[in-house]
Amino acid sequence: MLASGAGSNLQSLLEWCATPDAPGEVVLVISNREEAGALERARAAGVAAVVVRRDGQDADALLAALREHRVELVVLAGWLKLVPAAAVRAFPGRMLNIHPALLPAFGGRGMYGRRVHEAVLAAGARVSGASVHLVDSEYDHGPILAQWPVSVQPGDTTEALAARVLEVEHRLLPAVVAESCRRIQAGGEPGPLAIAAEHFSPAGRPQAGFAPSTFKST
Ligand code: GRF
Repeated sequence: MLASGAGSNLQSLLEWCATPDAPGEVVLVISNREEAGALERARAAGVAAVVVRRDGQDADALLAALREHRVELVVLAGWLKLVPAAAVRAFPGRMLNIHPALLPAFGGRGMYGRRVHEAVLAAGARVSGASVHLVDSEYDHGPILAQWPVSVQPGDTTEALAARVLEVEHRLLPAVVAESCRRIQAGGEPGPLAIAAEHFSPAGRPQAGFAPSTFKST
């Protein structure tokens, strides 16, 4: 996993890994910031934690760490830099990113953290959400694999909207990663996924009964 922030999405994956039928595990966390909470969480969970220098732009260092730990699927959550092209090329179709809005809206360079939710509110959008997409050479740009809508409530603050979207991220990311791992183990590749619409509630919270098996191939 590539993460340079607090690492709450990492935590959601670690918790998923601890469930009996998890089809994968987190073997490595890479950050370009020594002080990233994600590194702390990795160490606490006994997962290898590596800091890459040069703002994450050293492709050789990134690739060396990913290869050393035999990484099969790369997940970005809170990685604020472009991934060097050589690293993207080394994991074709096997590098995912989670973004806290419904792409292709409210994404791209400089659109991260609270700025995303500020922009959503400033635009008067009625729906936001979370997106998981394949990584390519542009920010927040590759093919979208799965999305989960979160409605904007009247009077929403940046913090309130961010918290509801993050709650959804913590359900969406493990579900997409689980399904991607299953597909890889079955000899396939990660691809577009759909969540049955009945699992969306007006506030965006998962309805009871939501599970990764809720995904259907599209
Ligand atoms: C998440 O909102 C993710 O969508 C975005 O960065 C944030 C990372 O949060 N790319 P955390 O570090 O996982 O708590």
